[in-house]
Amino acid sequence: MCGIIGYIGDKSAQPILLNCLKRLEYRGYDSCGIAVAAGSLEVYKDAVRVEELARVAPQLNGTVGIGHTRWATHGEPSQVNAHPHLDCSGKIAVVHNGVINNFQRLKRQLTAEGHNFVSETDTEVISHLIEKYYAGNLEKAVEAALRDVDGSYAIIVLMAGEPKLVAARKDSPLIIGVSDRENFIASDVPAILDYTSRVIYLEEGDIGVVTKDNIKIRRHGTKVVGKEHKVLWSVEDAQKAGYEHFMLKEIHEQPRVIRDTLGGYISAAEPETKLVMMTEANLENMLVVACGTAYHAALVGKYIVGELVGIPVRTEIACEFTYCHQIPAGTAAIVITQSGETADTLKAMKRLKEAGCRVVAITNVVGSTASRIADQTIYTRAGPEISVAATKSFTAQLMVLYWLALSYSRVDIRRVDSLTMGLRQLPEKVQQVLDNEDKIRQYADYLSRYENVFFISRGINFPVALEGALKLKEISYIHAEGYAAGELKHGPFALLGASTPVIAIVARDNTYETMLTNIKEVKARGSPLMALAEEGDEAIEELADLVITVPRVDAIFSPVVNTVALQLLAYYTAKQRGCPIDFPRNLAKSVTVE
Ligand code: F6R
Repeated sequence: MCGIIGYIGDKSAQPILLNCLKRLEYRGYDSCGIAVAAGSLEVYKDAVRVEELARVAPQLNGTVGIGHTRWATHGEPSQVNAHPHLDCSGKIAVVHNGVINNFQRLKRQLTAEGHNFVSETDTEVISHLIEKYYAGNLEKAVEAALRDVDGSYAIIVLMAGEPKLVAARKDSPLIIGVSDRENFIASDVPAILDYTSRVIYLEEGDIGVVTKDNIKIRRHGTKVVGKEHKVLWSVEDAQKAGYEHFMLKEIHEQPRVIRDTLGGYISAAEPETKLVMMTEANLENMLVVACGTAYHAALVGKYIVGELVGIPVRTEIACEFTYCHQIPAGTAAIVITQSGETADTLKAMKRLKEAGCRVVAITNVVGSTASRIADQTIYTRAGPEISVAATKSFTAQLMVLYWLALSYSRVDIRRVDSLTMGLRQLPEKVQQVLDNEDKIRQYADYLSRYENVFFISRGINFPVALEGALKLKEISYIHAEGYAAGELKHGPFALLGASTPVIAIVARDNTYETMLTNIKEVKARGSPLMALAEEGDEAIEELADLVITVPRVDAIFSPVVNTVALQLLAYYTAKQRGCPIDFPRNLAKSVTVE
């Protein structure tokens, strides 16, 4: 995600802003910029590293300013798309973290009212809205502007001639760093730790007005006094937001990731965003190509599309796609790749393009190679994923697949409505899984003693068994295999016994009864049986040695809650075994060789 910073005090703002931006680099970014106000507003920004910006930027005079590291979500990394963004008059500057769902409609309206836009970003509508509503009071203009906005945001606003910063947040974190005769605003703590460890955490809906000696916070229109906290973390701890590893932080980000990824697509405010992809392509020949975890998302997609659109979907592992001779004419191809740089996936894309196919990329990285090769790109909004093991990007990929399948669904409208509602509730359901962390941790301690584990399931959760096994093996180094529960007796049964636990993923769908039979078969062979099951499932409680419960959701969404639980199980197992979780041996975040 983007990083934001604001400074107001007696010192020159520019070097402080640049130093704070350096402290935000760990979040990943593609461009950066600063704005400093004295009498007028001066902005310097580009698609470069902070170090380069510091080297080439002219000296900007002033003791109040804002800065930003951008991770592109709307519009490629470029100077014009970098923040801060200005209004028409060039007097109001905004930095933003989050996603504005209804920006296209707002942009059209504002353009019709005479506003001139220069970037492709969603953020730029905010500076223009503030300009539209400004009538001598910046805080009131920000409040009015945000009433028009649907989406998530943490923003800081700076205006020429106004010795103050205005900040606001919704679904994106924002803090105020408190010091003597100077104050800071930032997206997260590491940005400011070189200057102060006194922090006020802004809450949902807060609007803060910060001067060098004063902090005023309004919560839903009422003045409140922000509670000051003393941060005891080191900069490194703070970069992980206090979590011990990036993987754990990223697992915990998933409720937000679901909201942000779906926001742009299922928002009622932007129905026209549904009009992407494949209108003229032959849906009956759908092919999905990916590697690793992204391939598991593709496999889940096959079941989702099968159920909602009623068409078969062919899935291929990218590295094997080279050897597949059949690419039917008119194939509608989707590639899924978090990084957008995986060599096998890119090679498959090129082959598909050469065969005359229309290729859609689902990726997390704006401007990545995959997005440049694709005819059309659908972005996940997971934010940078730093841990090598993919977690939040998988969930975000599933969100896009649910949305796509719903867009083309051929099921009853009541089912579509109920699933759309179910999607909106998913962040809450995932939060419930995260709240069950302590129990999962206890089971991980138990699991960590074993060297071989099988994950089994059926139907839409079969790919979840594959993903659970992949997560466990890559970070804990326990040998783990994901299996279709029905396949176990065709060979792996020979390995079952007291030293080989089996983890059964059980959903309340048409696989349920057969899964119970498979569990009994496994128990009869002496394997310890751990089940992942819906809360209130008494039959499983009786059968399994250990049960991790997940909240009740429509079975089509069960891969989401189940995968999050298995991510936590893998994480705590690896932690118990003392493994280097974020950077497992022999693995790289993006595999750029075949
Ligand atoms: C596993 C993992 C990998 C990636 C795979 C594809 O946790 O991260 O299996 O999913 O290397 O990477 P992308 O999605 O970047 O193409």
